[in-house]
Amino acid sequence: MHIIAHRGASGEFPENTLLAIEQALLQGADAIEIDVYAVDDELIVIHDPKLERTTNGSGTIYQHTLSYLMQLDAGQGQRIPTLWQVLQLVHGRCWLNIELKGKNTVEPLLALLTRAQSELGFELSELLVSSFNHHLLLKLKNAVPELRLGALTASLQLNYADYARQLGMYSVHCEINFMDQELVERAHALGLCVYVYTVDQPDEIEEMLQLGVDGIFTNYPARSRMWLHDKLKKPV
Ligand code: G3P
Ligand code: CA
Repeated sequence: MHIIAHRGASGEFPENTLLAIEQALLQGADAIEIDVYAVDDELIVIHDPKLERTTNGSGTIYQHTLSYLMQLDAGQGQRIPTLWQVLQLVHGRCWLNIELKGKNTVEPLLALLTRAQSELGFELSELLVSSFNHHLLLKLKNAVPELRLGALTASLQLNYADYARQLGMYSVHCEINFMDQELVERAHALGLCVYVYTVDQPDEIEEMLQLGVDGIFTNYPARSRMWLHDKLKKPV
């Protein structure tokens, strides 16, 4: 079961910053999850379209120029990173889950991936792109059929694994409250991976382990890794 650092090691460091990502890597995360919006054709890493919760800015990201956004404090002196900076940091160290938020992300992402492949030697197998917006995922699928894609859902949906399989997804990304054995078994029978968010407690980790999910998004990669290690030592 993979430990996926949710917005980096966001329980301890400012979420979606290079610091939180570097710390997650040092804590041995198997993967990093980040949230991405497009502003002026640049992909930036932030969870909310509104700036107040995670930065010293105000208003929405779309009201401002990229240069304004880039000089904001995102916590502990960190800046809002660009996706390019994250690709440079993570490349060759673990796999990356980019969650697409907002609008107009597909074209800039395709351009950035082409650049990352040629300039960094970045491989598509290092990447899993997810979104609640499944139309965007279909556009990506059409453009780059080999790209791994994950369909996010925050609710209970009947036959979700079958639906995701029909869309050509690699994985389903589900909220923990809607997880059950039937979904995991059906997804696996269809060849889909199952990733669950957000899993921060020891009893939740044990439950996900018993369900046999492929990975958990956690805000605390170090302690989740420790708890997982302990659970694996004991017979369940
Ligand atoms: O990708 C899993 C999870 O991050 C989706 O929800 O709101 O935390 O981006 P949210
Ligand atoms: Ca996310």
